Amino acid sequence: MTSERDLAQQRIAVLSKELEEHNHRYYVLAAPIISDQEFDFLLKELEALEQQWPEFASPNSPTQRVGGGITKGFPTVMHRYPMLSLSNSYSPEEVGEFVARVEREIGRTTYSMELKYDGVAISLSYVNGELVRGVTRGDGEKGDDITNNIRTVRSVPLRLRGDFPDELEARGEILFMRAQFDKLNTERARNGEELYANPRNTAAGSLKQQDPKDVAKRGLDNFIYTLQGPQLPSTSHYENIAAAHRWGFKTPDPKRRFIERTDSAEGIMAFISYWDKARHELEMDIDGIVVKVDDLRIQEELGMTAKSPRWAIAYKFAAEQATTRLNAVTYQVGRTGAVTPVANLEPVLLAGTTVKRASLHNADQIAKLDLHIGDRVKVEKGGEIIPKIVGVVLEQRELGAQPVVFPHTCPECGTTLVRYEGEAQHYCPNEHACPPQITGRIEHFVGRKMMAIDGLGGETVAELVKAGLIHNVADLYELTTEQLLGLGKGWGAKSADQVINGIEASKRIPFEQVLFAIGIRHVGETVAKKIARSVGSMDRLAAMTKEELTTVDEVGGVIADSIIDFFAVEGNRSIVQRLKDKGLRMEVDLSAAQPVGDKLKGKTFVVSGVFRNFSRDGVKEAIERNGGKVSGSISSKTSYVLAGADMGPAKRVKAEELKVPVIDEDEFKRMIEG
Ligand code: IVH
Repeated sequence: MTSERDLAQQRIAVLSKELEEHNHRYYVLAAPIISDQEFDFLLKELEALEQQWPEFASPNSPTQRVGGGITKGFPTVMHRYPMLSLSNSYSPEEVGEFVARVEREIGRTTYSMELKYDGVAISLSYVNGELVRGVTRGDGEKGDDITNNIRTVRSVPLRLRGDFPDELEARGEILFMRAQFDKLNTERARNGEELYANPRNTAAGSLKQQDPKDVAKRGLDNFIYTLQGPQLPSTSHYENIAAAHRWGFKTPDPKRRFIERTDSAEGIMAFISYWDKARHELEMDIDGIVVKVDDLRIQEELGMTAKSPRWAIAYKFAAEQATTRLNAVTYQVGRTGAVTPVANLEPVLLAGTTVKRASLHNADQIAKLDLHIGDRVKVEKGGEIIPKIVGVVLEQRELGAQPVVFPHTCPECGTTLVRYEGEAQHYCPNEHACPPQITGRIEHFVGRKMMAIDGLGGETVAELVKAGLIHNVADLYELTTEQLLGLGKGWGAKSADQVINGIEASKRIPFEQVLFAIGIRHVGETVAKKIARSVGSMDRLAAMTKEELTTVDEVGGVIADSIIDFFAVEGNRSIVQRLKDKGLRMEVDLSAAQPVGDKLKGKTFVVSGVFRNFSRDGVKEAIERNGGKVSGSISSKTSYVLAGADMGPAKRVKAEELKVPVIDEDEFKRMIEG
């Protein structure tokens, strides 16, 4: 006899399947066969059963669409395949040059052309057809695990259908359809709430909500634009996207020309000019067209540059312009003392956002535009978030208008500004007493990619500085719970503990991030990483000469000078010493996974295929940590081609032609270990 428990289990399975099917019909195919009411009825039944039999409630149950458990903070996870970005082009000629380059290298070939969705990139991992993870792009190497939030996006399948591979990563864009975005704003207006600025930023903000229930209410959407994995069905990108559609994903619709193939530059131009006009009628925002070499083997062969693939290009539509009045120019002082002029504008609508401010970059820019207060100015919004002023309508300048004059003294502390040779920026040299510089440096230090101190945002840092509790980053490590509680308003045991624990936890942050955090001018995230790996410790770095510094990859004269200047200042040395005494990591962690050395010095590798013991990034890291270089394409300068499983045949042929030895993973491991 079948027990009540077994019956419940069966019913849960049937309902789940049915509801997902209806969901797919509604949100992916836009062809529902039952009413919303009928859907809700089935969902209620499933909810009740899962409540009674929680052991049968799967994380991918349709009930999770309305919001499952809350994740406190989003864990950072490594991407299995790096999430690259595309190189941009702004004119049809540049796209023509791209095609010409591809043809020079591999001859005539087929391209997939598709819409460039203006949303937030996401990577979705499926194992045996079940969604196991949804991760943001982050820095391309690692992102935030926002799986519970992703489950609420109705067009993301929780379970795949048909002949899907066991392992799959689907990448695409999370976005708002315009109608849904307008609906949200209408509701907000009705409730007297501030309106959301634009669909893209709102999509990004929505995905970062802590409670998935809030995300579910927003009504986000998704398009998949690329697949990765060891067992893709086809060597054609276009065919793979078609397969993804069969597995249940929402993909670009060929019938609506969201994706199309061509084998000529003319075909690409025709597609671009079609969408340049038609995009205004679309139900969502796009900011350009993406052109990709369709054959995955040729993609492999073309390889990539440091940041973007050489087999794809994005064509961005011309930025939109508006004209408005320049009301005033104010000056912001950043953490490095750089003084940036900001144009305060009469609010104007531009590409869906109200623009009130625009960056003016530096004094030269103001002089070049010959700006006067009250001028009618042309503002433009390209790819960047902050709009810029591109011109002045001189005919409309009022008589007696006052020219904008760049100040000689710091607007924050009154110190005379300096301008270093060869630089366009003015700086306030009063590093240790100019308030925004002090706060700015500390804000930078606690940031997510630096010391990642939980609970310490910009406002809190400013509050602590103002209260005189901290003057520099080392002071953070002497803060006590009592001091924070003593600040009164807004501080409770919980928030105080969170800050103190966050500060304590930051002592485990790796050296490369500490190096980035201390804020040496020109030492950004990537450079800090390179220096950390090559130099090994703060002490060694502080003692290096300019000649020694410039032997480090990516370190040129300017960066070397900046490092030397930094350590020449007694105040900086003493802060670094205090941080060291407090237990921050001041050396690379030698116990980390891979050996470090110069066994591969002078050798250039081209990496291709999938590896057993390394992620794609891991291999590259191993090469670099051992002194070798990684390059995107095979040439006579290549020392080895490191081949994993699935290496493209084109690469193998090229390696043979140029007599470049092809080695496998085991041989590579022997090289670095032996
Ligand atoms: S392909 C290696 N295709 O544009 C290239 N990207 O800068 C992987 N995007 O972060 C991206 N529509 O978020 C690709 N049809 C499309 C796209 C697309 C939008 C976004 C994506 C990516 C950025 C590239």
